[in-house]
Amino acid sequence: MKIKNLIGQVVVVTGAGSGIGRELALRCARRGARLALCDLNPEGLDQTVADARAAGATEVYAQPVNVADAEQMTAFAKATTAALGTPDVLINNAGIAVIGGIMDTTLSDWDRLLGVNVLGVVHGAAAFVPDMVRRGSGHVVNLSSAAGVLANPQLGAYSASKFAVFGMSEALRMELRPHGVTVTTVCPGIVNTAITHTSAYRGGNADARRAKTTSSYAKRGYTADRAAANILKAIDRGKAVAPITPEAHVMYTLSRLAPPLARWLSNTLATIAK
Ligand SMILES: NC(=O)c1ccc[n+]([C@@H]2O[C@H](COP(=O)([O-])OP(=O)(O)OC[C@H]3O[C@@H](n4cnc5c(N)ncnc54)[C@H](O)[C@@H]3O)[C@@H](O)[C@H]2O)c1
Repeated sequence: MKIKNLIGQVVVVTGAGSGIGRELALRCARRGARLALCDLNPEGLDQTVADARAAGATEVYAQPVNVADAEQMTAFAKATTAALGTPDVLINNAGIAVIGGIMDTTLSDWDRLLGVNVLGVVHGAAAFVPDMVRRGSGHVVNLSSAAGVLANPQLGAYSASKFAVFGMSEALRMELRPHGVTVTTVCPGIVNTAITHTSAYRGGNADARRAKTTSSYAKRGYTADRAAANILKAIDRGKAVAPITPEAHVMYTLSRLAPPLARWLSNTLATIAK
């Protein structure tokens, strides 16, 4: 789908109240898209709506939504379609992380992670894709992670949730292709957003590890805006899998070509959060 110019196109972004989701919304606003945005956090969402209007968007539909709640997502999809029509692009971006090993992750962490990261994507697809299929066109973008192709011992449960998103997206791409709908799986890598700060840390020394991780991501310096620009390029090219940062490219390629080397690299990168 060519998206240099999005005038008249309807773009849905979940988790649009911060980070990569906000920058995706703003880049689409500048290209003339009609936006449907949701987030769990109403203040963050309001800020994105104000920024999108300032960036030139004339039609912005926004609703506070918990993507883990199927009924809320269905209601959001109905209201979006009534306000703007069937979406051209659906970006299932909302996500959370829990930082720590699997043995330190609680059952309630698993519930939250799988509810938002996995079922959030399932709910987005169930709510919006049937209309795209009926129309015979559309693009679905699912945010996985470099930790969704190469497990990270400090992101154990998060890796599991993002592997699930990766597998689901690959299957969905094949399933929807005959119906004119394209699916792209995005694996960002290390992008400097609020996620390092807002995540739960398990396994002790939470404050020190939060400070260290946040500072490492800031020093890495890859911005959410740059990630958003590259995600839009991947949509434009109809890519199946889109690693975003250079380390995400290396991790994706190594995980395919040299799994033992890839595991060593992943383990080394995990020391950031230790
Ligand atoms: N930043 C990174 O380095 C990185 C790396 C790999 C993958 N990702 C993925 O990219 C996506 C965006 O992350 P980000 O870094 O911009 O994080 P972020 O924390 O800046 O933004 C995530 C947004 O999702 C919203 N959200 C959280 N739970 C929600 C829910 N239940 N319902 C609706 N909205 C909800 C938050 O309120 C927030 O506004 C996530 O799926 C994340 O897992 C990020």
